[in-house]
Amino acid sequence: MHASRAGPALLAAAVLPLLQCGDSLPPPPVQPIRFSHRVHAGLNAIGCTACHGYVERGPVAGVPSMARCQGCHKFVKEDKEEPALTADIQVLLRHLDEDKPIEWVRVHRLPDHVYFNHERHIRSGVVCSECHGAVETMDVVRQVSPLTMGWCLQCHRRKQAERPLERAHMTECITCHK
Ligand code: HEC
Ligand code: HEC
Ligand code: HEC
Ligand code: HEC
Ligand code: HEC
Repeated sequence: MHASRAGPALLAAAVLPLLQCGDSLPPPPVQPIRFSHRVHAGLNAIGCTACHGYVERGPVAGVPSMARCQGCHKFVKEDKEEPALTADIQVLLRHLDEDKPIEWVRVHRLPDHVYFNHERHIRSGVVCSECHGAVETMDVVRQVSPLTMGWCLQCHRRKQAERPLERAHMTECITCHK
């Protein structure tokens, strides 16, 4: 009797701290409207750069403008099989009608003293999923990499080893701290 009552409590006491430190990444923010990457990038196979057009051209990936949503949702107004999705689309259509931009909440944010550039990474063949995980399976985008200095350096050392001379600067402080 005693053992069976103590059992679950002990187990919880042992497991909880593990869960808490193993899962130290921030939870995803609450967005003003539900937007699913699984539906767009997964089920409907829309490419990442169709919406994040600046990744290949500039330092930031950029979150799509309302005009980008409008381009498709002029036509995509409902889902006959899934009423829940239709309700989400209605919220978007109201924003578009009222010309009210959606204020997306940032998911990833490096401290200001760190310099990061998407273009450099994409051009040298690093793919989105190496840093962001399988976004096309996520209903809500969340941070899956720690984004710590150790995490950046781990990959930079690995890539440096491939071309030591040309990439000597990849682990220098000034590369990431301007
Ligand atoms: C139909 C447009 C669309 C497509 C396609 C799309 N995204 Fe997004 N993405 C968005 C919107 C809108 C947001 C902002 C809302 C949110 O965070 O969910 C966003 C947010 C993100 C974020 C979080 C940005 C932050 O705030 O830090 C990442 C990372 C991301 N997308 C990666 C991807 C990747 C990788 C793909 C391809 C597998 C992709 N996206 C395809 C529209 C799109
Ligand atoms: C390339 C075309 C395309 C673009 C661009 C696009 N969508 Fe969609 N969207 C779709 C399709 C297709 C569906 C799925 C409809 C269905 O369920 O049959 C969809 C579904 C949705 C839904 C319901 C499912 C969900 O995610 O909860 C919402 C909300 C939505 N879109 C919002 C947006 C927003 C916001 C943008 C702009 C950032 C956007 N869409 C850009 C094609 C697009
Ligand atoms: C080498 C790692 C890495 C790769 C590869 C990468 N990202 Fe990112 N991404 C980041 C980091 C780090 C941030 C946060 C940047 C900041 O806060 O300044 C970020 C931020 C973002 C953001 C939100 C802020 C912004 O820059 O607009 C979006 C959207 C995004 N990434 C999409 C993508 C897409 C789409 C791809 C693939 C085409 C991609 N990323 C590839 C590391 C990466
Ligand atoms: C998965 C591997 C990977 C990760 C993770 C990664 N990088 Fe990189 N990074 C690269 C590669 C590859 C290059 C390009 C090297 C080249 O052009 O030869 C690069 C280039 C850069 C450059 C440009 C260097 C130059 O030549 O001026 C900066 C700045 C940079 N990374 C910062 C960061 C920061 C900050 C992080 C962490 C938030 C990070 N990187 C995470 C692989 C990575
Ligand atoms: C590849 C990119 C990269 C390189 C190279 C790099 N850092 Fe960083 N550094 C980061 C990132 C990302 C952060 C922010 C995340 C964190 O604190 O781990 C950071 C944070 C820091 C901080 C702040 C820690 C805090 O607690 O706020 C200091 C100090 C620092 N770096 C010093 C250095 C020094 C010194 C070097 C050279 C020996 C260096 N960094 C090289 C990416 C880099």
